[in-house]
Amino acid sequence: MRYPSVEDREFAQVVWLDDIRTWDAACLHQGVYAPLTHFMTQKDYEGVIESMRLASGDLWPLPITLPVPHDIYRTLEPGSVVRLQGIGGFSARLTVKEKFCRNLEREAEQVYGTQERSHPGVNRLFTEPAGVLSGKMAEVRLPDQGFPEPHWPHQVRDILRERGFRSVAFFQTRNPLHRAHEALQKTALEMVDGLVLHPLIGPTKADDVPALVRMKTYRQILNRYFPPERVILAVFPPAMRYAGPKEALFHAITRKNYGATHFVVGRDAAGVGNFYPPAGALNLVQSHAHEIGITPLTFRPFGYCPVCDEIASARSCPHHDQWWSLSGTELRRRLSLGIDVPSQILRPDVREILQSAYRDRKDDSSQEED
Ligand code: ADX
Repeated sequence: MRYPSVEDREFAQVVWLDDIRTWDAACLHQGVYAPLTHFMTQKDYEGVIESMRLASGDLWPLPITLPVPHDIYRTLEPGSVVRLQGIGGFSARLTVKEKFCRNLEREAEQVYGTQERSHPGVNRLFTEPAGVLSGKMAEVRLPDQGFPEPHWPHQVRDILRERGFRSVAFFQTRNPLHRAHEALQKTALEMVDGLVLHPLIGPTKADDVPALVRMKTYRQILNRYFPPERVILAVFPPAMRYAGPKEALFHAITRKNYGATHFVVGRDAAGVGNFYPPAGALNLVQSHAHEIGITPLTFRPFGYCPVCDEIASARSCPHHDQWWSLSGTELRRRLSLGIDVPSQILRPDVREILQSAYRDRKDDSSQEED
């Protein structure tokens, strides 16, 4: 139990933010979501849900809202001042401009294209309260995620300026890098001056590899296999929504804010399961690229071809049906059981980092059982 401090008493309420909304709040404040700078008003929200447009008319594909428990929602009115308290020491003062109720079924259908609970983004949405607040934030104290790599657009833009890159491709990922990812990045480097490896470190679904472990693999790959003067590792704080094409578009718009001139988008970007067509994301990003002001580097499937004995592309290899493939579930099974993963799919040094993280996790849970 935490008693309100003297400081809290000047606020109508203290609203506790989960990890997703903590990072959304920080991203709004730091310009990751520009031109959006506040949790959405009803007009923003409805425009985004129905036609991917903010009230200002700007392109924006995903709702960024601040849900609050019903008992708090009931007591607040426009003009109320609340204190937002989040993870990692985040806090801010929010002056309520508006409150409104979302239609969660409509949101699921429009944003994720489904109301099925087996979709992790939809499942999470349906656990949230419908009532949301909008308003200006002030006195923002940013959360600490614990990674030394740059988090915010101004930090990354400064580095890009120092490096003097005229063109720079950003690579979004929520996974450890396999050999096909690496091939996409190296192909991108043939076309641009620099590459920003820009892993999402916000909340992901429980069975994705945690950001702390993934960061070790990214550092390893960049240090060993890329020319250091042409690559930068930075982190992307928002949560993963798994909204497929619409989220890929969100990823492209936000990377433009970090200084991207190019954005890599490949097979089923930001997708999950079989909810989206493999080329859905790259088609949507391509169709809005001009308005965003970014050049998409679009890739059809890449994978290891045993006939060509190399990482091949579906556009240039005729043996697509013979490619080796390993689903995420199978990869996790092998890592947790210590079964080998072919080096043609995953670099042995990356596999070693992942396997040792799985071993540590097992050791921890067996200690808990004692
Ligand atoms: S994402 O959810 O962050 O987009 P992931 O980390 O797997 O997923 O992918 C990062 C980027 O690489 C995305 O643009 C995705 O489309 C692309 N990608 C991943 N695997 C392949 C592949 N085998 N062939 C082509 N593109 C791929």
